[in-house]
Amino acid sequence: EIYKGKKPLAGLPASYAEPEDDAESLEITLKDKLTGLKIVLTYTVFNDYDVITKSVRAENTGESEIRIERILSSSTYLFHKDYDFVHLEGAWAKERTIQKRPLINGKMSIDSKSGVSGWTHSPFLALAERNADEEHGEIYATALMYSGNHLFEAETTANDLVRINVGINPFSFHWLLKSGESFQAPEAVLVYSDEGFGKMSRVFHRFIRQRICRGKYRDGARPLLINNWEATFQNFNEERILEIAQKAKSAGIELMVLDDGWFGDTPNGIHAFGDWKADHNKLPGGLKGIAEKIVSLGMQFGLWVEPEMVSEDSELFKAHPDWCIEITGRARSIVGAGGCRRFLDYSRSDVREYIVKTLSDILRSANISYLKWDMNSTMTEIGSHALPKERQRELPHRYMLGLYEVLEELHQRFPDVLFEGCASGGGRFDLGMLFYFPQYWTSDCTDALERLYIQHGTSMLMPASAMSAHVSTVPNRQVGRVTPLDMRAYVAMTGQFGYELDLGELSEEEFEKTKEHIRLYKKIRKTVHEGDMYRLASPFESDRAVWEFADEDTTVLMYSTVYARAASKRYNVKLRGLDKDARYQDTKTGVVYDGDYLMYHGLNFYQHRDYDTKLIVLKKMLDGMPNQ
Ligand code: DGJ
Repeated sequence: EIYKGKKPLAGLPASYAEPEDDAESLEITLKDKLTGLKIVLTYTVFNDYDVITKSVRAENTGESEIRIERILSSSTYLFHKDYDFVHLEGAWAKERTIQKRPLINGKMSIDSKSGVSGWTHSPFLALAERNADEEHGEIYATALMYSGNHLFEAETTANDLVRINVGINPFSFHWLLKSGESFQAPEAVLVYSDEGFGKMSRVFHRFIRQRICRGKYRDGARPLLINNWEATFQNFNEERILEIAQKAKSAGIELMVLDDGWFGDTPNGIHAFGDWKADHNKLPGGLKGIAEKIVSLGMQFGLWVEPEMVSEDSELFKAHPDWCIEITGRARSIVGAGGCRRFLDYSRSDVREYIVKTLSDILRSANISYLKWDMNSTMTEIGSHALPKERQRELPHRYMLGLYEVLEELHQRFPDVLFEGCASGGGRFDLGMLFYFPQYWTSDCTDALERLYIQHGTSMLMPASAMSAHVSTVPNRQVGRVTPLDMRAYVAMTGQFGYELDLGELSEEEFEKTKEHIRLYKKIRKTVHEGDMYRLASPFESDRAVWEFADEDTTVLMYSTVYARAASKRYNVKLRGLDKDARYQDTKTGVVYDGDYLMYHGLNFYQHRDYDTKLIVLKKMLDGMPNQ
């Protein structure tokens, strides 16, 4: 069957067509006469994106039960040639390092088994023609729109083909399909580029921004925020937060986010995950009180929560010890910071109802415009008190379906709230999550130098509009490094910009500079978030990172030095994506360049000092005047 548009996937995040004739779908139905198993393969092509999406649905039209042990979403064949297997590997605070290895004859794979898509391997794989670079070479890339256990494998066949298999990891997965039931596997997003990794990323960026992200905050500027986490950690009171907010407001910051530590009014001072009651010792007027005070400063108020966890000391756990994930009779591994918390069993409808109600009550109780949804654990001892024995291995996927249901409900109920995702930084930063959160906390590492690597790798898949990046204090909290304020600001400005320190601790001169940075960001954010990104130099392959963002009339160039050499070297940067016949003016120096000069001759940079970082803004000129 061929039809216009694209249908939503039952219970799962999926890309969409807008308007309907933006895409066309093909459904191929296969039926096994013996068992009555029907498989529907759905393919969608989009008019304006070099993307094919694929998904698989199984329906049991027979009489007997079917036990699914492996159901992937996409299996694509290519002629086997010299491909590189390219993926994004990482760890906490070191997310998405680009890995490239020659494809061997046999099988190569990456996966996640921790219950979440995880830091270790992002749900993304590209087969790239050997020697492909940012501008040249054929790339076949696949990303999975799923936030749980995943599998990506490339397997060569005897007749010189290579098969790319992508989907839910069969590890810790089973599904009992009774007569008349169906199972929907998640969507895979396939991108083809004939112009290297640069074009591959630009296709993903635009598709994610415009056909995966949704809601009020999909397009346009999102508020510039300050988060108190690295400024205070959990050690704060209302007065301290207001102090941070006041200073931030005077610098031009628009939203104050209250992070972890605001809850848990228990006599023993325990932060009770699950109860989500404000700590009145810290916040005498509760959330309503602090929100009012922040709003009266002329800022928006935002809040952090970690709603997938429950503390053993909470009232919730005492009332419902069976609401957490565990295997009866087995000792529980201590995972996640704090140790005494457990995963709530989102496969249960009573848990989902409780969470939706609790969060809705919180969001309605105070003037809250933003919610940071954090998750800081990996699953172990995966069992549910609500599932029968034969369905226990359905739990990891049922958990994801439950989580998506809760996120969808909140998305529908609170269309004006900006939701940001987080999993100890970028531990679950995937396409599935971006269906509900248009932005994600890219990494718990805020050091500007480390961020060059993290953001460079992340940008292989994710658009700048989705990558939250904050200026933090020095020496940096994670690595102890001291980097210049300009570098911290310019690197963060190439993502979804924000602050994570008390601006009151800056010197007068640094504070004035910060105000300038904020003014500059407000002028360039549209270009960075909605323009095309070109990675002109990689910190993984050189001593610098150079990124360009270009839209119709503005070009933003970020040049950052990793380390300088004694005989200072001149580096030439040729810009991309400009109009060669147009003229461009540097908004700071007033110098005017021809488009072809910028693209074919290029700009020269001198690396005098480690971490030297420049941000250049060029405006296209119309009739001799810069286009405002
Ligand atoms: C992990 C997040 O990545 C941090 O930004 C912060 O919110 C902490 N959790 C709070 O516990």
